[in-house]
Amino acid sequence: MSRSLLWHISCFLGLLPFWIQCTSSANSCAVWHEVADCSHLKLTQIPDDLPANITVLNLTHNQLRKLPPANFTRYSQLTILDAGFNSISKLEPELCQKLPLLGILNFQHNELYQLSDKTFIFCRNLTELHLRYNLIHKIQNNPFKGLKNLIKLDLSHNGLSSTKLGTQLQLENLQELLLSNNKIHVLKREELDFLGNSSLKKLELSSNQIKEFSPGCFHAIGKLFGLSLNNAQLGASLTENLCQELSNTSIQTLSLSSTQLYRTSNTTFAGLKQTNLTVLDLSYNGLNVIGNDSFAWLPHLEYLFLEYNNIVHLSSRSFYGLFNVRLMILPFSG
Ligand SMILES: *[C@@H]1O[C@H](CO)[C@@H](O)[C@H](O)[C@H]1NC(C)=O
Ligand SMILES: *[C@@H]1O[C@H](CO)[C@@H](O)[C@H](O)[C@H]1NC(C)=O
Ligand SMILES: *[C@@H]1O[C@H](CO)[C@@H](O)[C@H](O)[C@H]1NC(C)=O
Ligand SMILES: *[C@@H]1O[C@H](CO)[C@@H](O)[C@H](O)[C@H]1NC(C)=O
Ligand SMILES: *[C@@H]1O[C@H](CO)[C@@H](O)[C@H](O)[C@H]1NC(C)=O
Ligand SMILES: *[C@@H]1O[C@H](CO)[C@@H](O)[C@H](O)[C@H]1NC(C)=O
Ligand SMILES: *[C@@H]1O[C@H](CO)[C@@H](O)[C@H](O)[C@H]1NC(C)=O
Ligand SMILES: *[C@@H]1O[C@H](CO)[C@@H](O)[C@H](O)[C@H]1NC(C)=O
Ligand SMILES: *[C@@H]1O[C@H](CO)[C@@H](O)[C@H](O)[C@H]1NC(C)=O
Repeated sequence: MSRSLLWHISCFLGLLPFWIQCTSSANSCAVWHEVADCSHLKLTQIPDDLPANITVLNLTHNQLRKLPPANFTRYSQLTILDAGFNSISKLEPELCQKLPLLGILNFQHNELYQLSDKTFIFCRNLTELHLRYNLIHKIQNNPFKGLKNLIKLDLSHNGLSSTKLGTQLQLENLQELLLSNNKIHVLKREELDFLGNSSLKKLELSSNQIKEFSPGCFHAIGKLFGLSLNNAQLGASLTENLCQELSNTSIQTLSLSSTQLYRTSNTTFAGLKQTNLTVLDLSYNGLNVIGNDSFAWLPHLEYLFLEYNNIVHLSSRSFYGLFNVRLMILPFSG
């Protein structure tokens, strides 16, 4: 029995608790307080008979091809719009104009391929924008420039070949940028310049096959706190290079799981000596050799993850200098 049928039967029989409002809408969206759940209903159009005072509208897992702004005029109180898992290929600027209070726009798993300088121009209250699993290959000009309140931007699982999301300083409140599973091969200095006025804390670059870190590539984001580069074929020398580039940042959490780091030496993490690195994830690396004094540069390290490695060469100096480590997972033949 489908959920919507159940819903109608429950409404009819008065079986639902008194605080649930049963809607008579033909689309069978479930409305509870100011939240409308219209997910999984094979919708091809935006329902027009929901209470006008809803603040959350869930349109996920439907068959929507567009979000016509005019259809949202009624729902001007929305603070969260979840339109994920549809087939929408275009976002019109007027959508945000109809939704001045919108704080979270979730557009994951759609078919967006192009963003213009106008797309988000009216989305001034947005704090989170989720665009992962779309078809965005290129960002031209400055589509995110108006998003002065944005805290989290998720562009993972697209086809981007660069971290450059703009040509001017912008996104001054951005704290989290997710770019995993794109096609970024080089981290160039100027390609993060647009964040020079932000205090980005978390950068997610996992599953990009980065082959080169250009000198000073993190200079614009010196407040960086956490970096993930899992599933990148970095190996020992690129890892050493990466750590040198991170030397002037506030990095505290570094995730290098599955990066083909087979051996470490006393130079691998030397670049991090001025930082307060507290968490280092080296799991799933096929790590064989932990050379003497590999971690001697990291006196603040508290968590070292080494599970799923195959460490055969260890000496009494392998972990020399780790005074604060609380947790170390160390299976010897993983
Ligand atoms: C929202 O609208 C519905 C009717 O459409 C009403 O029953 C409900 O009381 C309203 N909620 C608030 C908080 O105004
Ligand atoms: C919308 O519904 C989907 C599927 O039930 C759920 O995973 C998602 O978290 C919901 N979104 C919001 C904003 O509640
Ligand atoms: C909402 O969408 C439907 C179908 O796309 C359209 O016929 C209708 O005019 C729209 N409603 C408003 C208020 O624009
Ligand atoms: C953003 O939302 C607040 C209320 O949360 C509202 O006062 C303000 O006008 C909105 N900003 C814009 C640009 O619409
Ligand atoms: C930099 O950010 C501050 C607020 O943190 C803002 O006042 C200023 O206009 C921004 N500068 C530029 C060039 O965007
Ligand atoms: C770190 O800062 C020092 C001193 O300002 C500078 O000489 C060095 O080039 C910087 N390193 C990086 C990788 O940005
Ligand atoms: C490391 O921590 C100390 C003490 O909390 C702080 O003064 C210093 O600025 C931190 N250094 C970096 C590079 O974040
Ligand atoms: C690093 O180890 C090599 C031998 O493997 C040694 O010659 C060198 O002095 C060490 N460097 C530091 C800074 O400990
Ligand atoms: C590593 O340290 C151990 C124990 O101090 C020492 O016996 C060994 O020679 C060192 N290896 C290298 C390559 O320096």
